[in-house]
Amino acid sequence: MKMQQHLADKNIALDLVRVTEAAALAAARYFGRGDKEAADEAAVEAMRIAFQGIHIRGTVVIGEGEKDHAPMLYNGEKVGFGDGPEMDVAVDPVDGTTAVAFGYNNSLAVVGLAQKGCMFNPGPSYYCKKLVVGKDAAGVIDIDAPIKDNLIKVAKAKGKPVSELKVFVLLKPRHEKLIRDIRMAGARVITHRDGDIAGAILAADPRSSVDMLVGTGGTPEAVLSCCAIKGSGAQMLTRLDPQSEEERKAIIDAGIDIDAVRGVSDIITTDQCFFAATGITEGELLNGVRYKGDFGVTHSLTVRGRTGTIRYIQAWHDRRKLSKMSSIDY
Ligand code: FBP
Repeated sequence: MKMQQHLADKNIALDLVRVTEAAALAAARYFGRGDKEAADEAAVEAMRIAFQGIHIRGTVVIGEGEKDHAPMLYNGEKVGFGDGPEMDVAVDPVDGTTAVAFGYNNSLAVVGLAQKGCMFNPGPSYYCKKLVVGKDAAGVIDIDAPIKDNLIKVAKAKGKPVSELKVFVLLKPRHEKLIRDIRMAGARVITHRDGDIAGAILAADPRSSVDMLVGTGGTPEAVLSCCAIKGSGAQMLTRLDPQSEEERKAIIDAGIDIDAVRGVSDIITTDQCFFAATGITEGELLNGVRYKGDFGVTHSLTVRGRTGTIRYIQAWHDRRKLSKMSSIDY
């Protein structure tokens, strides 16, 4: 046990960034080509290969789906070199497949790790409601309150008028009323078609231009967002929000409490957690993959839950050399 703790104490996020860099470089080859499946497949394959160099005994808790449908990085798959601490693993090789395929902002390659047994497994839940604010407004939000009340409280906590709040909302038909209500309350809305992991991290960071994230998005994305913000003191509240009767029934059949409000500490129950993300397309959180001569340039961030340390890493990858060493098209 002592050995396990010692190894988990290592900042695995610094190794993990190579996994998200590989996925981002592979996905970026499909930027703007209109083929989101190809972008995702390339990223999944690159991520899986890169994982072989990470010294963990990982089990995918949040992956590409059940084994029958996902040939790689499926839920339950063992990943990592096979030594080191036992970790639960959440992956999203491309958060924002459509954004990559059609050139929209905000897509990321993302990985989260937590000490084994400490990551919420959402099972068949695809969607949940999310409310995220930074440390400077933590404790004042209520997932059941009208959005206007939350905006007033967040503005007060941040010491600025509601009219200066900027709220990140995914641009989806289900959010039409929510967006109207936010604007009627006097706040500003920033919409993106995809990528609410980037949105959650921005909302959690008091240094960003985003004050809050609200709306319904992916449940796996919520778990990954929690890996990122766990050490920051930010607050994220979630409640499962099935978008079909089939999804609701599957959640209940799986024995998961559908009405529970889950915060960051319910979703990731340890501070032994790590997160890495690399930008694929451009965004406020991270620049996307850029090409300069023979180089692919990546922009990443890593977070260690225990200390809350965030590192921003720019890497220059020599694509000529990499293509001789690897089967992946970087
Ligand atoms: P994909 O990369 O799987 O398309 O997910 C992108 C995303 O926008 C997430 O960031 C978000 O949580 C989720 O999809 C929302 O789901 P939907 O697009 O079905 O409303």
